[in-house]
Amino acid sequence: MKKLLTRFALVLLVLLLAAQLVRVERTNPPVKSEILAPTDVQAVLERSCFDCHSNRTRWPWYSRVAPASWFVARHVREAREDLNLTEWPLMDAEAQQFFLGEMKQQLEAGNMPLDSYLLLHWGARLNDAERELLLTWIDEEIDLLTGASFP
Ligand code: HEC
Repeated sequence: MKKLLTRFALVLLVLLLAAQLVRVERTNPPVKSEILAPTDVQAVLERSCFDCHSNRTRWPWYSRVAPASWFVARHVREAREDLNLTEWPLMDAEAQQFFLGEMKQQLEAGNMPLDSYLLLHWGARLNDAERELLLTWIDEEIDLLTGASFP
């Protein structure tokens, strides 16, 4: 029995070591254009959203260790594909309006930032005031884009 356990542990170790050989993309593409938001809004976005939704990801140490690296890299890839805040001004008004609506939805549902991320990034948690700040800014931006403030 002990021999079997030792063998099992060895196999596991070999698998873990082999897993480190899988190449994981951990890139930060050049920042082409930054979202323009008031400083306080920008600070919250940078703190709570930019690690996934921007080209300015701060890759944590565990993003270098498989299998954690696979999850982190996938989250960042998928998040950037959906919404990249460092490419925001390159989007047309229609797309911006769409994503503002999506952000609002995610914030109201409390889906973002992802729970798995918050487990390891306590500081990224949004308190009520910060969520309100983002939601107010989103509404103002939508008004600006739809021309509601220029009747
Ligand atoms: C740990 C990484 C991570 C962080 C941090 C994060 N997100 Fe996301 N976000 C994702 C991933 C992954 C998806 C794609 C989810 C999917 O496709 O199911 C996503 C999707 C989204 C979407 C698109 C949802 C849709 O309907 O397609 C919006 C909007 C969004 N996030 C907003 C935010 C905002 C705002 C913040 C900061 C308050 C934030 N996210 C923080 C990982 C993250």
